[in-house]
Amino acid sequence: MAPFWTALWALTLGHAVIAAPPQVALAPRATNVDSWLASETAVARQGILNNIGSAGAYSASAKPGVVIASPSTSDPNYYYTWTRDSALVFKTLIDMFKNGDTALLEVIEEYISAQAYIQTVSNPSGGLSGGGGLGEPKFNVDETAFTGSWGRPQRDGPALRATALISFGEWLIDNGYTTYATNIVWPIVRNDLSYVAQYWNQTGYDLWEEVSGSSFFTIAAQHRALVEGSSFASKVGSSCSYCDSQAPQVLCFLQSFWTGSYTLANFGGGRTGKDANTILGSIHTFDPEAGCDDTTFQPCSARALANHKAVTDSFRSIYTVNSGKAAGVAVSVGRYAEDSYYNGNPWYLCTLAAAEQLYDALYTWNKIGSLTITSVSLSFFQDIYSSAATGTYASSSSTYASIVSAVKTYADGYVSIVETYAMSNGSLAEQFSRSDGSPLSARDLTWSYAALLTANERRNAVVPAPWGETSASSVPSQCSSTSAIGTFSTATNTAWPTTLTSGSGSGTTTATGTTTTATTTTTKTTSTTTACTVPTAVAVTFDVIATTVYGENVKLAGSISQLGSWSTSSAIALSASSYTSSNHLWFVTATLPAGTTFSYKYIRVESDGSIQWESDPNRSYTVPAVCGTTSVTISDTWR
Ligand SMILES: *[C@@H]1O[C@H](CO)[C@@H](O)[C@H](O)[C@H]1NC(C)=O
Ligand SMILES: *[C@@H]1O[C@H](CO)[C@@H](O)[C@H](O)[C@H]1NC(C)=O
Ligand SMILES: *[C@@H]1O[C@H](CO)[C@@H](O)[C@H](O)[C@H]1NC(C)=O
Repeated sequence: MAPFWTALWALTLGHAVIAAPPQVALAPRATNVDSWLASETAVARQGILNNIGSAGAYSASAKPGVVIASPSTSDPNYYYTWTRDSALVFKTLIDMFKNGDTALLEVIEEYISAQAYIQTVSNPSGGLSGGGGLGEPKFNVDETAFTGSWGRPQRDGPALRATALISFGEWLIDNGYTTYATNIVWPIVRNDLSYVAQYWNQTGYDLWEEVSGSSFFTIAAQHRALVEGSSFASKVGSSCSYCDSQAPQVLCFLQSFWTGSYTLANFGGGRTGKDANTILGSIHTFDPEAGCDDTTFQPCSARALANHKAVTDSFRSIYTVNSGKAAGVAVSVGRYAEDSYYNGNPWYLCTLAAAEQLYDALYTWNKIGSLTITSVSLSFFQDIYSSAATGTYASSSSTYASIVSAVKTYADGYVSIVETYAMSNGSLAEQFSRSDGSPLSARDLTWSYAALLTANERRNAVVPAPWGETSASSVPSQCSSTSAIGTFSTATNTAWPTTLTSGSGSGTTTATGTTTTATTTTTKTTSTTTACTVPTAVAVTFDVIATTVYGENVKLAGSISQLGSWSTSSAIALSASSYTSSNHLWFVTATLPAGTTFSYKYIRVESDGSIQWESDPNRSYTVPAVCGTTSVTISDTWR
């Protein structure tokens, strides 16, 4: 969002649009990223559902399946539905559904049905018959056209929507519902692919709605959509010749965004072009089966890593909240350094994207079993591992282990920043102040929550399905200005079945390469939209690194009865059965009620029975209450 019009106004009137920052107490709280994410993922999931009509708590006047960008109706007014934001949010929900969050089925179907209708709504960008109307960036929440001035068209929306719908269409096919993929999903996707094929080589506004030109994020998203669109077409008994003819040319144009040292965000706009746009482009087109491919700017590619450094470094000296943070230490990340919208601040979703790119890279290095440093990526690696040198390091080498550990720490640092500047109840707005980190602009931004969820998944090596990068990464020798005409027709069929059963599907592939197949039946009821079957209890494993001598024991005391209500005599004993000379690990697993918040500390019990408590403050944790989450691990270090 970042409405173009308000942004222009801000530019024109200096800082006149900036209201006093809200007074939000930034209470110190647990710095443990694992435990914060365990509770924050539940906040984020609910935060998204609150913003989807008509069952959402903050979006009652939105039509079913319509995503509002934020509940904020003034300063700024984001109570509209953007095609881009909605697609990115639903791509996230659909992947969660495919990973077992079956309660999301009905809202996913409502989203798809809503898009079938919205495609037909004539608007200032055009109508459906010539395709132009598909490039309209936003609509009113009652699915009518927004007719005010705006930065239009925005050509990433149809591509992103195609990607989200194809992800669900693949699930339908894998689970024996090809007729629904064919009759409901494909006609909507076909319109969006036709739009991309016809219009990709024309200028439009970028994802921040400010620059009219050609945008890396848009072109990257368009390439991906055409590639997976062609494959999806054949699975539903059709074909997409216009996808096949245009995809290589889109990839060819994409190469021109590489400057030699970073990825240019836009042709047009008159800025340096260092912009989180490019990090978002890399994570959106991450393919877990691709290697560290430069041509598609994969997250672990030399290009994308050099760009990660260039973009994140561009915010180090301009935000007070980043002061003193040297290169290689996580910082708050905004859209681009020249940003003046709300005075130009870090954004939660940009900071999370910086983390997500690194988690994607870690996934790929671990998968391919090595990591390569080139002259292009060397400075990125030197920031986090000073003795880095060009070369390829096998995963069995100590250099690999050291670098991977440094990248993980660096990535977690970005999440930790979001933890620090989130509201104390977990809410994520659009921005946080460059001077003191307090939340700013639209509250409860739907995209911020989606960004939190995808970063958390990649951190846990839960990755999306491949989109076909491996067969679509070779660049034609000659780029040309082209276009192809597809088919635009109203997608009328939205008759979903009342019951969908998964079980014959391909399951989900986890980090360890094992395949788990969910066998669940999802029967719709009128209230499943925001319902979520959460476990009543969660097996919480407490890992603590504590160096002990023979005869010493480590126990866990805490504020709840399961942890002895702070009584040292009722504290629970940890096991040293995994303790080795190189890994001083003590652990215990306790079954705790989901959703419970408690405080705790480790205690050391000497052989003479005397007790030593950890230093203050008390640790605190909230047991996740999240569908499908039945076990979690907290990783602590004795202090
Ligand atoms: C169209 O494609 C050609 C060839 O890649 C490129 O030079 C040109 O800048 C593109 N124009 C737009 C507006 O995308
Ligand atoms: C957090 O509190 C703010 C008001 O201070 C509210 O708008 C927001 O919805 C709350 N978030 C959650 C997750 O409860
Ligand atoms: C930790 O919790 C205990 C028990 O509630 C309390 O007495 C103590 O003051 C707490 N410590 C701190 C530093 O808050």
